[in-house]
Amino acid sequence: MTVIETPRTWLRPLVTADLDDLAQIYGDPEVMKYRLISQPACRKQTQEMLESYLAHWKQHGFGRWATIYKPQKRLIGHCGLEYLAILDEIEVNYLLAREYWGQGLATESTVAVLRYGFETLQYERLVALAKPENLASRRVMEKTGMQYEKNVQLYGVEWVFYTINRHQWKQSHNGCDL
Ligand SMILES: CC(C)(COP(=O)(O)OP(=O)(O)OC[C@H]1O[C@@H](n2cnc3c(N)ncnc32)[C@H](O)[C@@H]1OP(=O)(O)O)[C@@H](O)C(=O)NCCC(=O)NCCS
Repeated sequence: MTVIETPRTWLRPLVTADLDDLAQIYGDPEVMKYRLISQPACRKQTQEMLESYLAHWKQHGFGRWATIYKPQKRLIGHCGLEYLAILDEIEVNYLLAREYWGQGLATESTVAVLRYGFETLQYERLVALAKPENLASRRVMEKTGMQYEKNVQLYGVEWVFYTINRHQWKQSHNGCDL
């Protein structure tokens, strides 16, 4: 099992037993406000999402990790990598329970995920998408060295599209964690 450690978190692959914790987090309207469907997910929807994440792990050998907050040994969100067939790109994604926002935790876990994408999976480029008004998410992208490239229309919605390539990754991090 691929576990990634950051100063304050462990990232470990999501498992079926995470349903209760995820349902609580995905059920928060504020957390889901800028997702494709801007509505809280019910338990059944969360289960479908979790099943799709597990299927992605099986198919690609990577996917979304559960973000475990070390001090409480608690699942506080997810982050990870997803193959986006519609763009033929690998997308970085992240989401945290509201009470953990504003402490740099998404940035910390995203740096680790980017490192995994470049150094372990050996991808040449990683991308991220956010609704334009999701300023916190855009800030995470910027802080982790991603650069705004363009706006794109996907699934009938407008998104900002950020990218980072291996060269930019090396330049922005110089092999160090933030
Ligand atoms: C996006 C999200 C993961 C950020 O998590 P986080 O742990 O709070 O992120 P960080 O603390 O690492 O960084 C957030 C940055 O955004 C900034 N920020 C937060 N809200 C902001 C706002 N409304 N306007 C501008 N900047 C904002 C913070 O100040 C911080 O920047 P700074 O370090 O320069 O001060 C979290 O808000 C979340 O889970 N949102 C819901 C799910 C989501 O939108 N996921 C992304 C999908 S694209």
